[in-house]
Amino acid sequence: MAFLPRILLLFTIAALPLSISGRTIRKPPAIFVFGDSLADVGNNNHFNTSRANFPHNGIDFPGSIPTGRFSNGYNTIDWIAKHVGYKQSPPAYMSVTKGKQMLRGVNFASGGSGILDTTGKTITFTTQLTDLMNAVNVLEKEVGKGYTAELIKKSLFLISAGSNDMFSYYQATGAQNATMNKQFIDSLIDKYADKIKVLFKYGARKFGILGVSHIGCVPAMKNANPLGTCVEALTSLARDFNSVAKARMHLLKSELDGMNYSYGNVYNLMSIALKKPILFGYKNTIDACCGSGKFNGGGPCTPNATFCSNRKEYLFWDLFHPTQATSKFLAKEFYGGSRKFASPINLRSLIKR
Ligand SMILES: *[C@@H]1O[C@H](CO)[C@@H](O)[C@H](O)[C@H]1NC(C)=O
Ligand SMILES: *[C@@H]1O[C@H](CO)[C@@H](O)[C@H](O)[C@H]1NC(C)=O
Ligand SMILES: *[C@@H]1O[C@H](CO)[C@@H](O)[C@H](O)[C@H]1NC(C)=O
Ligand SMILES: *[C@@H]1O[C@H](CO)[C@@H](O)[C@H](O)[C@H]1NC(C)=O
Repeated sequence: MAFLPRILLLFTIAALPLSISGRTIRKPPAIFVFGDSLADVGNNNHFNTSRANFPHNGIDFPGSIPTGRFSNGYNTIDWIAKHVGYKQSPPAYMSVTKGKQMLRGVNFASGGSGILDTTGKTITFTTQLTDLMNAVNVLEKEVGKGYTAELIKKSLFLISAGSNDMFSYYQATGAQNATMNKQFIDSLIDKYADKIKVLFKYGARKFGILGVSHIGCVPAMKNANPLGTCVEALTSLARDFNSVAKARMHLLKSELDGMNYSYGNVYNLMSIALKKPILFGYKNTIDACCGSGKFNGGGPCTPNATFCSNRKEYLFWDLFHPTQATSKFLAKEFYGGSRKFASPINLRSLIKR
């Protein structure tokens, strides 16, 4: 199928240099990342909970090192960064020691976090926004206010959020009441829009929003479900989240002059993968590669957990997260795919404009 070439094309979208006050910068000059464990590249290494900097995580990362990514290798942000023309995705904010390290962007994402401040025990979205403000102050000292403002304006802002809020809501309520569910999703998207408005106020203009996936089908949820099937109540929340979020993004664009965005329809791609695994080369879309218990969804990918050898043939790496193979598919379609997978425009078009 045309949207699934097996070979990742060489990244030809290289730097169209543009010059600001004598400095040459790339397009996009930097990538700033916010959100949860699908985007975290090691911020949580500094916490005792919700971290992943131990084996078998990272087993397929260059050097086979666990970096804090919740993956056997690269995550979706890493693959997007490669498509955009970067050798590697921006560093974890918690590991940055010099302002200069942030000139190509920085990653604030933290596993366990959500849109709501009550979700997770790590770095909340609100704190990630404060971290950005601090990073901007450092950059201004490093390269000046004018250059920093131009950098922010032209950069790509990637966000992955919402799944953990829905997991918490489901755990607390069971998500059986349609009226309550609608209220919850509406208020969640209100909060999401508020965060995006804050980023806009800081000067961000180009947003890549990673939509939520079939969260009811992750091995952890099937493990907890006595029927052993996907938890439809959660997947249904995810569908509602995506449709309300997309409508709100459309509205935001009309409210915020100069804002542009691409919404990654991860859900649609995963629907195909779950229905026709063969198209992606998957042999297993049910179990986690690494973990314990039923579906390998009973516990995290710890050093003593069992793991599969044919990792490219698995959709899920651990109880909640995709393999790097899956992340690669997601990034590819988000970056260059059709409207079905990235709307109203894909990341490539977003960056070009
Ligand atoms: C992490 O655990 C160690 C020892 O188990 C403890 O000393 C430390 O305070 C904990 N750190 C956090 C951030 O909870
Ligand atoms: C659902 O929640 C609403 C609002 O809290 C409540 O008024 C209604 O009675 C609930 N419906 C059911 C079937 O429990
Ligand atoms: C791994 O070891 C930890 C602590 O020793 C234990 O709690 C956990 O159940 C073990 N997991 C597996 C998959 O054996
Ligand atoms: C954003 O989108 C508008 C159309 O709504 C377009 O005119 C503008 O050039 C875009 N700007 C950037 C920076 O992408």
